[in-house]
Amino acid sequence: MAKKKELNIGLIGCGFMGRTHSNGYLRARNFFPELAYTPVLKAVCSRSENKVKAFAEQWGYESVETDWKAIIARKDIDAVDICTPNDMHAEIAIAAAAAGKMVLCEKPLARTLEESKQMVDAIEKAGVKNTIWYNYRRLPAVTLAKKIIDSGKLGRIFHYRANFLQDWTINANLPQGGEGLWRMDADVAGSGVVGDLLSHCIDTAIWLNGGIKNVSAVAETFVKERMHQLTGKVEKVNIDDACAFLCHFNNGSLGLFESTRYARGHKALYTFEINGENASIRWDLHDLNRLEYFDNADDSTVRGWRSIHVTDGDQPYMDKWWVPGLGIGYEHSFVHQVADFLKSLETGAPCSPTFKEAYETQQVCQAVLDSAASGTWKDTQGK
Ligand SMILES: NC(=O)c1ccc[n+]([C@@H]2O[C@H](COP(=O)([O-])OP(=O)(O)OC[C@H]3O[C@@H](n4cnc5c(N)ncnc54)[C@H](O)[C@@H]3O)[C@@H](O)[C@H]2O)c1
Repeated sequence: MAKKKELNIGLIGCGFMGRTHSNGYLRARNFFPELAYTPVLKAVCSRSENKVKAFAEQWGYESVETDWKAIIARKDIDAVDICTPNDMHAEIAIAAAAAGKMVLCEKPLARTLEESKQMVDAIEKAGVKNTIWYNYRRLPAVTLAKKIIDSGKLGRIFHYRANFLQDWTINANLPQGGEGLWRMDADVAGSGVVGDLLSHCIDTAIWLNGGIKNVSAVAETFVKERMHQLTGKVEKVNIDDACAFLCHFNNGSLGLFESTRYARGHKALYTFEINGENASIRWDLHDLNRLEYFDNADDSTVRGWRSIHVTDGDQPYMDKWWVPGLGIGYEHSFVHQVADFLKSLETGAPCSPTFKEAYETQQVCQAVLDSAASGTWKDTQGK
């Protein structure tokens, strides 16, 4: 077997995403052996020395740093992987690009459109390889949805509907800010469910159904004040706890999106449904190996919603895993993103979504926030 080219990874942030990405690098090595590049877990960074050492030992990183700038300064790092909260994305990505590193950044691209623009400019100027981890695109059933839509089977699309529902912030005594709860602090997160959850729905929607022209949104902050973990004071809550919006897609279809962290009983219910002239599809993260499909051309006596178990070897990515009938999970979306990134190094093609493509999602997020604040329709372009 030809000797692999090594891609030295410097991962910043050892939380939830630090774990999914580390697993992605390790599994991609095992399950995509045909790729010319292999990821090497060269260095990992977190501010706590004890924590980062334990993380490095658990996942097999060769070295540790406690200052992200040291990762960027290192000559033996090819790609910087940003797994920090949203307030650090811009600073790290811009510095990494300026140092000529490839950049893999967690979503959302940034807190604001202004930060996002600076990031895109820096990446484009440096001309470095880049990608944003909108990982749901890479679940086989979601990729199959894309293939079905692109084949034209749905015909003209009329409706796109998506939900992302959680319930973890209902308790009014939950504090905001600091380790573990930075999502509740607008200074760090940028926004609430819009940037955290709807950004996923918007990314998938743009990928499947094209650009979004304009939006009309409502948002609510149900608990107005919470104790801030870092200041110890009760402070105003500035994130959106829930948001719903209507939109027009550029292809003439209508969109309806809803996200909340106050839907009791739902932990991470991401669903979408697309209704076309000839067929419809729907998907549910809680049953992620299945894609439901209704084709009006079927014989009327047996016509109905088909539940496609997307596990056969001819389905997207599935030739890499087990045997037909055996499903895969959430973590595989990250393995697939790593594999697609490595493949893009071979082919020279971009690894979607790039920073530039993720900027379009930011434009929609910003328009949604602006619309909710003003109570008027907002265009998404030209921000
Ligand atoms: N793609 C997805 O589905 C998905 C899911 C969850 C989170 N995310 C995104 O991933 C990012 C991280 O989220 P998370 O859930 O992993 O958060 P987390 O709180 O679990 O982990 C964040 C980590 O970053 C570290 N950190 C913070 N500031 C740092 C600094 N200055 N230098 C080095 N390390 C620092 C923290 O100590 C922590 O280890 C966010 O942008 C989030 O939106 C994406």
